[in-house]
Amino acid sequence: MTGASTSSAQLPEAARGLLARIADRSARIGIVGMGYVGLPLALLFSEEGFRVTGFDVDPVKVAALNSGNSYIVRIPAAEIQAARTRGFSATGDYAAISAIDAVIICVPTPLNEFHEPDLSYITGTASAIAPHLRPHQLIILESTTYPGTTGELLIPLLNKGNPAGLCAESAGSAAAPEAPLFYAAFSPEREDPGNDTVARRDIPKVIGAAGPVSRQLACALYGSIFSGTVPVSSPAAAEMTKLLENIYRCVNIALVNELKQLCERMDIDIFEVIDAAKTKPFGFQAFYPGPGLGGHCIPIDPFYLSWKAREFDFRTRFIELAGEINTQMPYYVVERTGEALNQRRKPLQGAKILILGIAYKRDIDDLRESPALTIIELLRRRGAAVAYNDPYFARVGQGRHYALNMGCTPLDNLAEYDAVLIVTDHSSYDYPRIVRESQLVIDTRNATKGLASPSIVRC
Ligand SMILES: NC(=O)c1ccc[n+]([C@@H]2O[C@H](COP(=O)([O-])OP(=O)(O)OC[C@H]3O[C@@H](n4cnc5c(N)ncnc54)[C@H](O)[C@@H]3O)[C@@H](O)[C@H]2O)c1
Repeated sequence: MTGASTSSAQLPEAARGLLARIADRSARIGIVGMGYVGLPLALLFSEEGFRVTGFDVDPVKVAALNSGNSYIVRIPAAEIQAARTRGFSATGDYAAISAIDAVIICVPTPLNEFHEPDLSYITGTASAIAPHLRPHQLIILESTTYPGTTGELLIPLLNKGNPAGLCAESAGSAAAPEAPLFYAAFSPEREDPGNDTVARRDIPKVIGAAGPVSRQLACALYGSIFSGTVPVSSPAAAEMTKLLENIYRCVNIALVNELKQLCERMDIDIFEVIDAAKTKPFGFQAFYPGPGLGGHCIPIDPFYLSWKAREFDFRTRFIELAGEINTQMPYYVVERTGEALNQRRKPLQGAKILILGIAYKRDIDDLRESPALTIIELLRRRGAAVAYNDPYFARVGQGRHYALNMGCTPLDNLAEYDAVLIVTDHSSYDYPRIVRESQLVIDTRNATKGLASPSIVRC
């Protein structure tokens, strides 16, 4: 599905102007939040000939980008430098928003300490950009969030906070074409970091807009860099679409994590079972068990919906059950590690354990919510001496939920560890060598598939 129904002739003149500037690439694009989502999006717009400004509150990121450097492993500095020659720059000064035609917000949406949505980054951004809005700009939210955020929170903050008295277009509003409007939409980011099987531009862009003109503008904007757009009836429908996608993953991962534990008791290899099941040409999609969920999305987003559901006196039982099973996985891995050491007449207390891979998934440099962090913490609490190796992290200091303060250990003396625990199966690891040289390998990812050795314990 592409495009929207309103013909250009019916659009207000200023919106027609923006549509024309999108078509000839003279529209100025502003991306707020130069992180894992915002920076690649900025580069995509730049590659397509748009002049892009990146906004970020982190002066280190702003300085890095303006000097042509990258801080994300999979984005080479050469791509930033090429974008710089096409007019890309970064700033922390929101006054520059007034020169932008389309502002896309890609700021974090974590959970707070009570496991509730922390929307402070979205509200902070809205308050910061509102004073600089001018008529007929297009404002789009991409951050993952609960249904209603764009309509109930973002738009009212923008309406209220701008001195020019601008108001968002809303579905069914009878605003005259000359009314000082801004246009608004929600369009979720659907990227799968580290998955190179689909080019980013080939992932269809779901768009839920505040009104018909907003829809047409947002579809035109994203249609200029993505192969397909999928307009839905409202921002809330687009917000819910993203949550459905992530909850689907979360629930299915919980299912295989539970079945893995049963299969272990029954002496059945869950990975063999999944590989066989996925030969079915319909009705089955493979999900794989692991040491627990990680990343900015799957462990967090479902709880945005659970929280919102309470407003409607509704309990999202699938989400809560899946959350319970997935959260317990690091504890399960530690328990199995203790059992495997016990069988070798070694206590967990005082054991030397090397964690292989601390990123939340294979071949990426992202540590957010990684189960490795919980596993390290649990092992330390039980008295183990823990070291880690990860080619993507030379050092790990302190984060929102952890204080590791550890450096990466080289892999030159694997035999000195009582156990080597594979938490993240980076493809650069030489697994035959790891198995050959280690006393005990606890494999939570099936990374040692095809290797046979009494030193391997799969869990
Ligand atoms: N990382 C992913 O793979 C992924 C995939 C799909 C959706 N998402 C969603 O996209 C959103 C962004 O995620 P991310 O991974 O890019 O986060 P990130 O932490 O990598 O980047 C966010 C950036 O926003 C900046 N920022 C924070 N507050 C700001 C403000 N007020 N003004 C300007 N900049 C500000 C931060 O400094 C940071 O650079 C989240 O809602 C996330 O759930 C992420």
